[in-house]
Amino acid sequence: MSRLDSFIRRLVAQREILDMICRDMPLPDGVVIELGLGNGRTYDHLRERLPGRRIIAFDRALGAHKASTPEPENLVIGEIDATAKAFFGIGAALVHADIGSGYDDLDLVNLAWLPEVTVELLGPGGIAASGVRLKHPSLEPLPLPAGIAEDRYFIYRKRQ
Ligand SMILES: C[S@@+](CC[C@H](N)C(=O)[O-])C[C@H]1O[C@@H](n2cnc3c(N)ncnc32)[C@H](O)[C@@H]1O
Repeated sequence: MSRLDSFIRRLVAQREILDMICRDMPLPDGVVIELGLGNGRTYDHLRERLPGRRIIAFDRALGAHKASTPEPENLVIGEIDATAKAFFGIGAALVHADIGSGYDDLDLVNLAWLPEVTVELLGPGGIAASGVRLKHPSLEPLPLPAGIAEDRYFIYRKRQ
């Protein structure tokens, strides 16, 4: 599969999953956490789909489109494994983790801390959507929307 095909499939999966979560899954009260603001496309999508929810976005550097740049109080710049610690216990309703680089060796490094950070940010019953598999006893895997290939994206609910 070409990288273009793979990229398109990832974005389609991302949109299907975020739409399913926002439309069909009862989210508990709480903030939304966007790990990997990037250009701000999925941040913007979540903002549109979940009006009124506070969304806090994290990235190591600001590279978002001006129209998708969060207010300063909702933007956290730095390495997520360090910056997220100040938000542990915030009781997030949704954590969306999109910090993949496309380089397997770099992405493996994130796997060392991302599951635990996600669990510490989520409140009970909160949902995580991630571009990489999150292995953690507190995260119960949920089924993907019909038509989305296994291993392309992952959804979990934090056990109560
Ligand atoms: C695939 S992009 C995110 C795309 C974004 N969701 C969008 O829709 O525009 C991944 C982002 O994660 C950020 N990132 C990756 N690892 C990180 C880390 N350990 N700490 C902070 N930011 C990280 C990168 O800087 C990059 O901007």
